[in-house]
Amino acid sequence: MLPEEFDLSGRVAVVTGGGTGIGKATARLLAKRGADVAIAGRKADVLEDAAREIREETGGKCLAVPTDVRKPEACKALMEKVAEEFGRIDILINNAGGAHGHVGLSKIDLAKWDRDVQLNLSAAQYCAQAALPCLKKSKGCIVNISSLAGVHGTQGVGAYSAAKAGLQMLTRVMAAEWGPAGIRVNCVAPGMTATEKATAGWDERGYDAMQACSNFPLRRYGEMDEVAQAIAFFASDAASYVTGETLAVGGGPQIGGMIEVET
Ligand SMILES: NC(=O)c1ccc[n+]([C@@H]2O[C@H](COP(=O)([O-])OP(=O)(O)OC[C@H]3O[C@@H](n4cnc5c(N)ncnc54)[C@H](OP(=O)(O)O)[C@@H]3O)[C@@H](O)[C@H]2O)c1
Repeated sequence: MLPEEFDLSGRVAVVTGGGTGIGKATARLLAKRGADVAIAGRKADVLEDAAREIREETGGKCLAVPTDVRKPEACKALMEKVAEEFGRIDILINNAGGAHGHVGLSKIDLAKWDRDVQLNLSAAQYCAQAALPCLKKSKGCIVNISSLAGVHGTQGVGAYSAAKAGLQMLTRVMAAEWGPAGIRVNCVAPGMTATEKATAGWDERGYDAMQACSNFPLRRYGEMDEVAQAIAFFASDAASYVTGETLAVGGGPQIGGMIEVET
């Protein structure tokens, strides 16, 4: 049986980008732990398939709400729809994100820069502000999904790296401003994670992802469920006195001193 502090029965969660990858794994885990879940993304067919899968697998409720989170009014409509269908919102997972191609800062197309910043930083603010009235009522929580690119910085994805770093700061300021209302705000920064899209890209380019992780302390990339576990921790009462924090889930590449010594 699930320890009481991890039980999410009676809670309602919104997961942006919940139709695929880390978002879908998170939506599934939250539903398994008893939450009613709404998933949002742009592709209605992908979302509907994921929602059906999650309902069948968990026996819980999962609602698909097609949404472009780069549009503030769409984020507002998403939260209104969820509140109307489920009566409340307790948990917001700002997970939708991604980088648009690899190109250096000297040549980056500025429309793409704006798109990456909007998707990976501004959308979290749009969704959080739209969900705030409900989160105040429920004394709920927010989990923002950043990236290790936002911790170390990654060449070729400058806009993405800067936006993800900004998301970590947004987490801290939201936590400070909304903590007095009983709302916790935390952040998870995944490292290299084997999502469907990532593994397809690795295969296509003949990229040896395991080799790329060979100097990480844990010597491997992460699985979607491992990231989802960290997100579910922040979303649960097990983290009731934790706010404003960023937790890296990346096998430890941020740990310095890579001179090999015997274990
Ligand atoms: N996988 C990794 O190695 C890794 C590492 C570090 C951080 N992350 C972060 O983890 C999060 C999840 O990524 P993932 O790896 O699971 O990739 P993914 O499978 O590509 O998921 C991204 C999701 O975001 C949605 N999305 C993209 N643009 C959107 C928009 N404008 N409006 C609404 N939804 C939108 C996509 O759905 P639609 O296309 O249907 O809209 C998709 O479901 C992202 O924030 C990513 O930056 C991933």
